Amino acid sequence: MRDGTGAPRAETVFMTDLTTTPDLTALSAKLRRDDQAFRRSFALGQFGADEGGADPVAPRPAAPAPARGAEARARFLALVESRLGVDAGGSVSDRIDRLLASMPPAAIPGWLAELEMEPADGAGWAALVDLLTVHETYFFRDQDQLVFLRRSVLPGLIAARRNDQLARLTVWCAGCSSGEEVYTLAMLLVDALCDAGEAEIRGDGRICIQPRWRVSVLWTDIDRGVLGQAQSGCYSDFPMGPFRSLPEAWGGYFDPSTRLPPYGGPPVRVVRPEIRALTGFLPHNVISADPPTLDACLVLCRNVLIYLSDRARLHAQALFHRALSRDGALALGPTDVMRQPELFQPMWGASTVLYRKK
Ligand SMILES: C[S@@+](CC[C@H](N)C(=O)[O-])C[C@H]1O[C@@H](n2cnc3c(N)ncnc32)[C@H](O)[C@@H]1O
Repeated sequence: MRDGTGAPRAETVFMTDLTTTPDLTALSAKLRRDDQAFRRSFALGQFGADEGGADPVAPRPAAPAPARGAEARARFLALVESRLGVDAGGSVSDRIDRLLASMPPAAIPGWLAELEMEPADGAGWAALVDLLTVHETYFFRDQDQLVFLRRSVLPGLIAARRNDQLARLTVWCAGCSSGEEVYTLAMLLVDALCDAGEAEIRGDGRICIQPRWRVSVLWTDIDRGVLGQAQSGCYSDFPMGPFRSLPEAWGGYFDPSTRLPPYGGPPVRVVRPEIRALTGFLPHNVISADPPTLDACLVLCRNVLIYLSDRARLHAQALFHRALSRDGALALGPTDVMRQPELFQPMWGASTVLYRKK
């Protein structure tokens, strides 16, 4: 449309932009699909590679943020950091740039104002969480640390509780993604209880724990989208998939028969119901004011803090300290740095470390 001078009527364009409410869910889903397609085409050899401190979604050149959008971008980064704890300038900055570049610039301030008003469990934030989180995980990830935990920490935690009338073993697994880490932990606890004579695995594979034990592996994640798969305990067995590190001897913690999905694809293995029954999910953000428990003998938060800002890491580690019982232990990811050395004492294994609450 043109005005009387023949010049384009720019305000008509802006009016259109301003009334366009961005469909963040669709944008988010599209960007995630793009990421996956890019990851597939980038290099098959990289598929399933461990983070090693980097985003497993290979970086691609970011769309340059328009200069006039710099202020909105800074406002968005600050908002994402304060609500999600995410280090928005880090490995997810490329996704953020692509998200902002895909929106009409004039619509961004209104959208930001809506996000600022929206509660953390609103649809806009859920779509952002889906876009900005990385869910890579698998059974028995970082075996050195788990072996050290099983041999050097769990027996002591069990021994300290075995004379209690109600012997509680509460574990908090923060940022657990689709559940492989949670079930790994439940298996380790059962194994340690068997060694201590407090549980047994019967001939038919059934797991029986002495009734006075209250074992619970509480798993939390900021992304509610991970809940479905984690609860079902069903995992597809494909090369470099969730079973890539599962020791053969631990296969007994899964239903003996693998299932072939009717729609094709790799076989599915299902975690035994007795193991699933030890676990429970809560949506939780590690930058929340309170932990989900104050009685954990063990907290695991691995490969989560690497995506968060310094401030969020500090806060989260103080939260883990509050969640732990007096003799509790903390496991961080291999690339995480202890930011609260006055709260935790390192326990060194051959090539790994855990932390004891001070
Ligand atoms: C790479 S996965 C790690 C999964 C598992 N801990 C492991 O090591 O295999 C990171 C998980 O942290 C979650 N996450 C990211 N930021 C979080 C936050 N602020 N609070 C809680 N969970 C968060 C993500 O949703 C994702 O599921």
